[in-house]
Amino acid sequence: MGRFAFFPKDFVFGVATSSYQIEGAWNEDGKGESIWDRFTHTPGNIQDGTTGDVACDHYHRFEEDVELMEKLGIDAYRFSIAWTRIFPEGKGRINEKGVKFYQQLIEKLKAAGIKPVITLYHWDLPQALQDIGGWESEETVEAFEEYARFLFKNFGKEVFLWITHNEPWVTAFIGNYEGRHAPGKRNFRVALSVSRNLLLAHGRAVRAFRNEKPKGKIGITLNLSPIYPASGEEKDKKAAQRFDGYLNRWFLDPLFRGQFPEDMLSWYERKGFSIDPLSQEESTLVAQPLDFLGINYYHRFVIRQGNEPVLEVAEERNPYNEKCDMGWEVYPRGIYEITERITKDYQPSAIYITENGIATPDILEEETVEDLRRIVYLRDHLLWVYQAIEAGFPIQGYFVWSLLDNFEWDKGLTKRFGIVYVDYTTLRRFPKKSFFWYQRLITKRNFH
Ligand code: NOJ
Repeated sequence: MGRFAFFPKDFVFGVATSSYQIEGAWNEDGKGESIWDRFTHTPGNIQDGTTGDVACDHYHRFEEDVELMEKLGIDAYRFSIAWTRIFPEGKGRINEKGVKFYQQLIEKLKAAGIKPVITLYHWDLPQALQDIGGWESEETVEAFEEYARFLFKNFGKEVFLWITHNEPWVTAFIGNYEGRHAPGKRNFRVALSVSRNLLLAHGRAVRAFRNEKPKGKIGITLNLSPIYPASGEEKDKKAAQRFDGYLNRWFLDPLFRGQFPEDMLSWYERKGFSIDPLSQEESTLVAQPLDFLGINYYHRFVIRQGNEPVLEVAEERNPYNEKCDMGWEVYPRGIYEITERITKDYQPSAIYITENGIATPDILEEETVEDLRRIVYLRDHLLWVYQAIEAGFPIQGYFVWSLLDNFEWDKGLTKRFGIVYVDYTTLRRFPKKSFFWYQRLITKRNFH
């Protein structure tokens, strides 16, 4: 580490959230139903039976939340737009009240000197589009382009970064293969076709962006992890490579090289799941140059050969390593390893860590939370981010997941990722100790 560990002056510090996880107001002011509304309203899908109907009630409390952000001192705020607030049926008719909500949010951010970073799709697909096939259908791809173009036209002057998709791997495989997320399907063939359409939709949004020429930059956010084989045995090494193809390269290769990874195409073929490779035209669309790559990093995977039916892998978890509340191994060095690998293998022009954070069993005491583990987690990851910058990997910003405790998908309200505690009975917000730690880091731009 350099003698004075200061982050570059223009390095962007932020926090991240997503619409369904914080907004609530699920059926207010003309908002349409999303697949997550439908999914959480179906008994048995969510661990604690909760829904995002109210969540953090951010829709009504966004001013207070931006004030918290201003106090925190962040440079940028990453949030997502609920597609169903803008187009309640997914396409066609526009809901002015929804547009106004995001206008007001953006204005408030601007007044606070915070740059907006907008995710177009953070999983809350309009139910009306799911009813006609969802991401399996070309019509959804078209509707996404229309939605994206509308946002570029209307918010284009104010936005710093645009992210087409958040974690398309999760959308495709957790939503359509594991079935733990909306729309809750369990079909590998469907998941593959969804992944293909997500890439095409991304490409169409990027093309629309280049045509509209709004200010700001455009990229995509992937959940990426270093993958380790559980042993030195050939079969485990191969399993780890397959899992890497499944999780990391399946999206990285099309986006940066214009085609799905060859080894995965033939593995899936052997398992009876053939998928069309991208045509020349599709490949050009999908692999258009991006301004940045967003990486969400939480943990690594240790993989051996195993019984998973399609991939024939299993995950190994060392019982002695520290885990977060999600059961994920805490592995700070991974944030360096993944950015090193991406820089070397894919050369993105810039990288933003669009999410990093930890769920811990927080307890509210005297109006705050002594979340020392979160502080240690964030500090250790940021130390590695700092090392990555020093090593020359093009990381330009870092966003903590999350500003607020919020609705953690199939886990409901049981996991707390926020640097601000939310009391779900009163909806009051209480900055945790990590909030003040992060505030100090941002002001000083170092670890002292
Ligand atoms: C990634 C997702 O983008 C976000 O929605 C989720 O809450 C966090 N990971 C934590 O699981």
